[in-house]
This record gives sequence, C-alpha cells and structure tokens, in this order.
Amino acid sequence: MRILKLFIILFVVQLHAQQGGMWIPSMLKGMNESEMTALGMKMTAQDIYDANNSSLKDAIVHFDGGCTSELISSKGLMLTNHHCGYGEIQSHSTVEHDYLQDGFWAKDLNSELANPGMVATLIVSIHDVTNTVLEGVSQISSENEKQKKIADNISRLQTSFPKESWQENKIKTFYEGNQYILFVTETFKDIRLVGAPPSSIGKFGSDTDNWVWPRHTGDFSLFRIYANKDNKPAEYSKDNVPYTPKHFLPISLDGVAENDFTMVFGFPGRTQEYLPSFAVEQIVNTLNPAKIELRDAALKVQDGFMRKDQTIKIQYASKFASVANYWKKWIGESQGLKKSNAIQIKQNFEEEFQKRVIKNNKKNEYGSLLADFEKNYKAINDYSLARDYFIETVLRNTELLSVGFRLYQLEQVYSTKGEQSFNDRKDNTIKSLESFYKDFNASVDEKVFEKLIALYGQKSPLVPADLKTMNYSKTTADIYTKSKLTSYEGLKTLLKGDSKTILKNLNKDLGYQLVKKLADNYYKNIAPKYDELNLETGALQRNYMKAQLELFPEGRYFPDANSTLRITYGQVKGYSPNDAVYYEPVTHLEGVMEKYIPGDYEFDVPAKLIDLIKNKDYGQYAENGKMPVCFIATNHTTGGNSGSPAIDAKGNLIGLNFDRVWEGTMSDIHYDPSICRNIMVDVRYVLFIIDKYAGAKHLIEEMELVHPKTKINK
Ligand code: ARG
Ligand code: GLU
Repeated sequence: MRILKLFIILFVVQLHAQQGGMWIPSMLKGMNESEMTALGMKMTAQDIYDANNSSLKDAIVHFDGGCTSELISSKGLMLTNHHCGYGEIQSHSTVEHDYLQDGFWAKDLNSELANPGMVATLIVSIHDVTNTVLEGVSQISSENEKQKKIADNISRLQTSFPKESWQENKIKTFYEGNQYILFVTETFKDIRLVGAPPSSIGKFGSDTDNWVWPRHTGDFSLFRIYANKDNKPAEYSKDNVPYTPKHFLPISLDGVAENDFTMVFGFPGRTQEYLPSFAVEQIVNTLNPAKIELRDAALKVQDGFMRKDQTIKIQYASKFASVANYWKKWIGESQGLKKSNAIQIKQNFEEEFQKRVIKNNKKNEYGSLLADFEKNYKAINDYSLARDYFIETVLRNTELLSVGFRLYQLEQVYSTKGEQSFNDRKDNTIKSLESFYKDFNASVDEKVFEKLIALYGQKSPLVPADLKTMNYSKTTADIYTKSKLTSYEGLKTLLKGDSKTILKNLNKDLGYQLVKKLADNYYKNIAPKYDELNLETGALQRNYMKAQLELFPEGRYFPDANSTLRITYGQVKGYSPNDAVYYEPVTHLEGVMEKYIPGDYEFDVPAKLIDLIKNKDYGQYAENGKMPVCFIATNHTTGGNSGSPAIDAKGNLIGLNFDRVWEGTMSDIHYDPSICRNIMVDVRYVLFIIDKYAGAKHLIEEMELVHPKTKINK
C-alpha cells in the first residue's frame, strides 16, 4: 500500500514535472534528454551541446548582454526581437528618417548600420568548476570572509583557466551558491543593423497587448555580426567582414501544431523559484505594489505628452516601453501569485520540509532555517522597501535625479580616488550624457518629478525628515527653473573649470543638492543594513537549497536563471485562464485586422500589409490559406529570453520567443505548467514580412529554408 502510494506520488510529480525549468545545456544527458525525447524531441543531447564539434549552441548569441539572438545564415545574419533592437533602431531615427515608424531594410552589406558600443557574445564551452571555487571555503565561518575567499578563487581561476587570447572566462554561481560554472566566451563588437519592420508590425499592440495572449506582434529585427579577416572579434572597422558561424539554424517552413515538441535556447536573466513563503508574501503585499504605484504615476505623465507631440514620442518611446514593461509584469505577477495560491503552496511545502528535517535527524543543520528566514524577512522589510523607492524614484524614473546621481558618483570619485580619476570620469560623463540629453525633455521630466517626489516623501520608509513636510510643487518649480541639470548646456557649464570650482558649483545647484541629500541618506541609513541582511539571507537560501536537494531527492531541481545559456522545453499548447475560457495556441493575420484601429498609435496597420492580407498574398509561408502570426507553448522562459529561438524536434527554427502570457507571468517565482506559456512569433510570419512586405528577397536567399515534416531533407 505504501509503496503504491509512493509510486502514485512519484508518477504525479513526474507528469507535472516534465515541463518547467531552465537547464544547463552541457548537462542534459540523463533526465532531461529522456524527458525531451518523451515530449517528442528527435535529437540527442549532443546535437544540442557538443564540446568538440559544432552543435546547436554555436548558433545562440547573447545579444548586447540583455536579450538573446540566433544566427540564421552562413554570413553572420542574426535574428532577434524588434524590442531588443529597439534602442538601436531608435538611435538611427530622426523625424525625417523615422525607422521606428517606417521600418528599415538595408539593401546590401554596405547599407547596414553600425552600432558603436553594442556587443554579441557566443559561448565556446562550459565547465563545472565548483571544487576549485569552493576550495578552502567550508572551514571559514564568517559569511563575509567566505564570500571574499570565493571571489578570490574566482578571480584566480578566471585568469588561469585555459583559453585563447581573444576569449574570456566568466564564472557564475548556480543553485544559490552550491555550484559554480565557468563559461569560455567570445564577444563580437561590430554588430550592424540589417532590418526592422515598422513598429505597426514589430510592436503591433504595443503596451496594451504586451504580456497578453492572443497576440499579433511581428516582434523581430535583423542584425549581422562582423569579424576581422580571421573571423575573430574586432572593434568596428569598415574592413571587417560578415562572421562565419560554426553553426546556424535552418528555418522550418512546416510550422507547428498543438502538442509539437519545442525548445527555447537562450539567456534567461533572473528567476527566484526557491524563495520561502515569507519572501513571496513580501513581494506580493509590499514591494510590487509600491513599485507599481511609482511607475504608474511616471507612465501616465509621459503618455500624456507622447500622445500630443511627435518629437517627444520619439524621444520617450524606448524609455517608456522599458518602464511600462515591468510595471505591467509586476501587476500580472502579483495577480498570478494570488490566483495560483503560491504562498499557500510554499507554506505547505515548508511544513513538509520541517517534518523531513526531523525525520532525517537534521535538526542541527536545517532545523532553524525557516524561522531564520522569517526573522530576516521581517527585519529587512523597511530596508527593501526604502531601497526600491530610492531605485525607482532617483535612479530609474526621474531623469534629472538620475543625471544628478551620476554627478554624485563623480564627487565620490574625487573623495576616494583623487584629482586625476575625477577628471577622467568627468570627461567621460560629459561625453556619455550627450545622447541622454538628445532624448530629454525638461517639461515632461518636471511633471514626473513632481508626482514621484511626493510619493517618495510620503510613502517611503527611512527618508530624510524634511522630505515628509516639503512643499512638493514649490520644490519642483524651484528645481526646474534654477537647476543647471535641465539641459546639456547647463550640465557642461556646471562641469567647467578645475575640480574645486566644479565641486563648489555642483553643491550650489538645487537639483544636485536634493540628489545628494537622498543619496547620502540611502548610503548611510539604508544600504548598509540592507546589504548586511541580504548577505545573511543569501547564506540561508544556499543552505535551504542544499537541504532541499538532500531531503527531497525525488524533486526535480533546475538552477534559477542567472543570464547564462539555458535550455527549456515543452509543447505547443493552449490554456484555460478562467472559467469557461479557452485560448487556442496559434493566432493568424485575420486577428490583426480584427484589432486594427486606423491611425491609432498601438493598433494601426500599414497599408501595404492590409493589401497583402486582402489578396491573401502569402507566398510559400501560409498554411491552408491562412497566415500564422504567433503561437504559445509550455516553455519556461523569463526576461532575457527575448529573441531566443524556438526550435523544433530536429533542430530547426520555428519561432522567435518574445513574451509570456499575462496569467503566467508569476513563473519567475512560481511556475505552473497549467497556465504558464511563452509567446513566440511564428518564423513563417517573419519570413513573410521580410519577403512579401519589405521585398528583401536577398535576405531570404541567405537563409536555409527546410521542410522537416513534409520532406526528408535534414
Ligand atoms: N514583455 C516583453 C518583454 O518582457 C516585451 C516587451 C516589449 N516592450 C513593450 N513595452 N511592449 O520584454
Ligand atoms: N520580453 C521578455 C524579454 O525581453 C521576454 C518575455 C519574458 O519575460 O518572458 O526578455
């Protein structure tokens, strides 16, 4: 009987567990490989990652540190999301040449646009270095000293681990400090913009549809990696040539059907799947609501200006989109955590955890873990909240304060490193702020400031006393009429002269004075205590992970995302978010016309696309006369997976990941396979836009189009 019960539990766990998780590509042999095969994969783990031969991983690129992209031709052509290339597309745009609005298509290699400062990183190989990194660590008792020793070991290994001169070693921690992995990487520095659809395709539905299914966005753009004549990374040069990759992804024209195997290969940024219930409670009840309220206020102001003024719209488009993105995600995340009873589920698990601690005689090691977590989360509450208020108000959403903060750091450089460092840093700051001011509008920022400083003063714990009683509109008016930080010219005058003069003038500036007051307060009264408690929580989390691995050996543990290369897999599937509602897994161009609002800034449709739809001029890309646009599947993805390839059972590209469904955004904290879905553009829609809409046939010709389902050619 007991055996039968255990068998049933294990079976249920396995059935559910088959989905979810972001796995390390070099460690798929065994459990992952068999799960993937069970889901329909027709490749081996070695086809995905091979240390000695080319494999799928050689086509996967970390796109400028944030997104993912993939190589799709032998000439270094790369596909990523429109929203990942957005900053670059915007920076090449003016009111006369508005590539955000009209799209951009380079007609040949010479017309591709350079993006100074942008990088693309490939992973050469992956190595477990846990033993070396943790050498001599276990005998140290202070957490601080432990971390120092680990940092020392890491930096030594980073220099000593064998690599080629143009490569880099990067070490990251997995399982909350229980495992360390080294990545040998190659970073390319000459990345050029090749193509982008107009925003009415690439960003169709904009913020209203963001994080929402059903979706109809052609969220893609094209870039190209350039290398030197030896095919190695090099700074931009007109003599560079298109990079020849070790592998690029063939593109399937056969599409997807419900229950097809899919995997997503990319660089997920951050998840927190093993938090205790106390932490999740704090996120849902305290931290998310505060951040949402601040961003809500900032976005309303910006939106008002952007709708009335085309210049402001271009200036703020990229900033607005990025602030709006997480604002909306946090709202969905909080709702999803509540609806899925994540806190209760965690509490139930914790109860079982405590039982197993006792049953296994582990009271000494793990007995007080949960109580310590509870105590720590209580103690850190106000500090975390004050920190979020500071970050959101000063660093993130009020531009004058964020510039002021750069100058605050400059003043710190003077006091800690002296004159020479100060001057170098000053020149750099002046240079780098030029492009910032190009997109700055003081009237917009003034209104944002007025709202946020009031919220900050009234609602944040641990703020300077006079912020509570300040006359916010008067302060705002004073600062925005008198501070030199409201224009690039002003900034340059403020930073003129020798260090003494500059520091004197800076400290007379009203805007700067406020930044300094807030930043001093942060570094004196918030950060030290926050850091101390956070370090302790990190140690608890590491021990909690170790305990789970030990006490729940039947569990299926994937490491939290940490911006390293991962595989997640699942199947194409619809879902039922609410009673009586069922969402199908594929959308079509007909849906674009259903959403079409002529002239609207989110739901306009370009005339040429309307014609193509009317004439059903879909070429080889349609399926049964209909043009698929997006699809969803059970792949467990997160921020950073944008631009990741969706790959079929045989290793061909079928789609481009760009979002998750609203009801499933809590998957960063609590993944539930019944409603968590990732959203992808169907690659046939991408090809259709490139070919039929843009007429860029030369790009299609570079690619390798295949029919894995209907013809045996791969
Ligand atoms: N939600 C997707 C992601 O997290 C798409 C974001 C695009 N930005 C936007 N505001 N529409 O990146
Ligand atoms: N749009 C996200 C990104 O930029 C991916 C969607 C998600 O968070 O799952 O990475």
